[in-house]
Parts: sequence; structure tokens; C-alpha cells
Amino acid sequence: MGGVHVCSGKPASGDSCACDDVFLAAVEKAVLPYRGRPEDLVLALHDVQALRNYLPREALRVVARVLEIPESRVFGVVTFYSMFSDKPRGRHIVRVCESAPCCVMGAREVIDALLGELGVDMGGTTQDGRFTVETTSCLGVCGVAPALMIDDAVYGNLVPGDLPAILRRYE
Ligand code: FES
Repeated sequence: MGGVHVCSGKPASGDSCACDDVFLAAVEKAVLPYRGRPEDLVLALHDVQALRNYLPREALRVVARVLEIPESRVFGVVTFYSMFSDKPRGRHIVRVCESAPCCVMGAREVIDALLGELGVDMGGTTQDGRFTVETTSCLGVCGVAPALMIDDAVYGNLVPGDLPAILRRYE
């Protein structure tokens, strides 16, 4: 995937532009409840990211304007927290745990199988836009290591052979 999407007013890759008017109107609607409330920046960013699973640059400008804070502060928060992405991502985010307990229990084999199944490198997005794979530190379910998370669902006690059936649950 390329770098930060800067809206040019034209489609970036043959699809509709990430910053089209309909999308930016949806962003504005999502952040209006936070108008003039800089302390709610993280909440606002979560709501905006839920629209497309990432935060295009133009959307961040809308957030800054509505919350009445400098754009630099918004960009700083987005780059600080790993749960936010300013790069396009798939419809589902797969977070694989790389902390020690999962590693000891075989996470590496599960991760390798996952990447092979999806045909992506770590951090990549599948060609059909279905999944983006990211690493994370402990998911808090070490008792069922190795584990991974897809969107809000956690899967544990994994072996590589579990992956095809799990991935089939997601469109
Ligand atoms: S180390 Fe993987 S869930 Fe805790």
C-alpha cells in the first residue's frame, strides 16, 4: 500500500476517491456530536475510522475543524495510537499476537499459515480488500495462546489448520 492518501479530487486507484463528498459528509455527521470538544478527540477518531476502517487525510481535516483544534494535534494522535491507521485497510482487521506467551505456544506457525492463506505480508491487505493483517502485543487472553483477533472477535488455542474455517466467516 502507498503512503498517506492526500485527496486530489480524483480516484486514487480506479475506485471512487476516498475523500468524495458523500464520505466527507458522513465524517462531518459522525463528528458533529463532538463539536468544540477537543477532549473527545480519540472518541471522534474511533467513530470516523469505523466508516472506512482507516482515516484519510481529508477526514482528519474535518475532525480538526469541527473539534476546533489544530490539524497537527489530530495527526499526532493518529500516528501515536496503533489502533488508528491513516492508510487504507481491508474490511476486517486481523490482529495477531506476538507477545511471548503466544510465541511459546506456537504463534509463529499460526502467523506464517495466516499470511500464506491470505497471500499477504505482515501489514498487508488482501487483493480483494477483505483483510488487513497487523501485529499486536498481548490481547489479554494468554490462557488460550496462541491467539488472534478479527475485528472484535478473539480466537484462541489456534493451530494453523483452524484458519481456513475462521476466515470463511468473513465476507
Ligand atoms: S501473549 Fe498473546 S494473548 Fe497474551
